[in-house]
Amino acid sequence: MRIVLGVGAGIAAYKSCELLRLLTESGHDVRVVPTPDALRFVGEATWAALSGHPVTATAWDEVHDVPHVRLGQTADLVLVAPATADLLARAAAGMSGDLLTAVLLTARCPAVFAPAMHTEMWEHPATQANAATLRERGAVVLEPAAGRLTGKDTGPGRLPEPAELMRIAERVLARGAAGLAPDLAGRVVVVSAGGTREELDPVRFLGNWSSGRQGYALAAAAAARGARVTLVAANVTLADPAGVRVLPVTSAAQLRDAVTEAAREADALVMAAAVADYRPETRSETKIKKTPAAPEPIRLLQNPDILRELSAHRLRAGQVIVGFGAETQDLLGNGRAKLAAKGCDLLVVNKVGPGIGFGASNNEAVILAADGTQTQVPLGSKEALADVIWDLVATRLAG
Ligand code: CTP
Repeated sequence: MRIVLGVGAGIAAYKSCELLRLLTESGHDVRVVPTPDALRFVGEATWAALSGHPVTATAWDEVHDVPHVRLGQTADLVLVAPATADLLARAAAGMSGDLLTAVLLTARCPAVFAPAMHTEMWEHPATQANAATLRERGAVVLEPAAGRLTGKDTGPGRLPEPAELMRIAERVLARGAAGLAPDLAGRVVVVSAGGTREELDPVRFLGNWSSGRQGYALAAAAAARGARVTLVAANVTLADPAGVRVLPVTSAAQLRDAVTEAAREADALVMAAAVADYRPETRSETKIKKTPAAPEPIRLLQNPDILRELSAHRLRAGQVIVGFGAETQDLLGNGRAKLAAKGCDLLVVNKVGPGIGFGASNNEAVILAADGTQTQVPLGSKEALADVIWDLVATRLAG
């Protein structure tokens, strides 16, 4: 595929060298278009050598070839990484003073922006408004990763890791090749993932085997379809998907607080986390020691059912809520009963057992809808199941 890699004038430009390598090594034909100031961070020679193509930042080289039109018209994807505050502003305003902004206007393929800047610049209302404008026009604007920034400060503003950017680029390319638009552009979604842990003492907990893979696949798929994604992650060790705001939590109570807060502005909520139904009545401040006598029984209290309470009291009108149900038998019967009890719009019922479900990379499911319909999803990747779930959510949001 033909990719235009746009590079803005941010220090994270050095990470885009690695991204470029990953893209070319997987067979893509990549044209690098830096902004003039981006060349202060990484020079033309580096981009030319790594891409195997000449590199320029202006529309005034090889004018007979009309490069800004040719590059835009022939691209299958324009990936801008890093996208600075200035570049987002110029793209949102439709300016075309350098080659990259001109290409953004001539391209009709999907565009992905990976913003990277200081937290204050990202959170400034001007930058947020520019990102919103680009999303409204169908561009995929990723959330920056959180962590160490240039200098000593930390916060959201980092460029996601090249391998994760690569993953999202591949998904957007595949959807573009299939003629599918980023149908969640401008939408806000919340996904919970992983398994909660209820502490017994400082070293022990009650937990479950959820790996978080299905929830992470859902978050990555939604980001590739243009959504602003918050991923509430309970005890997951997977790499953060690119373009997703990740909120780590431990217990069911923390997950409930984080999901409820994020759901206030969400168009859709998918509860993929395995939430503990019970927690110990007390948590010992010190390690529970073994004694010669029989141990004290552990008394449990019921946790609130987050899916049920958020379905009953929707925090936004028209919000679409999806739950999961793990079953070992009578998938349809148990699933329909669970869907009714939870009050959500869709329930993804998956079979769990040896080698399937928790921890596995494949999943097989039937998705039951409150309107009585059902969608069978054959055994396949968790990414494929994630896309079917978002298809159903997108249809409901559009309706
Ligand atoms: N869930 C929740 N809050 C809880 C428990 C579960 O929001 N306290 C959500 C999960 O995120 C999931 C769905 O509810 O979307 C699963 O419901 P649950 O009744 O826990 O399903 P199972 O574990 O399959 O239930 P059961 O043990 O009754 O079969």
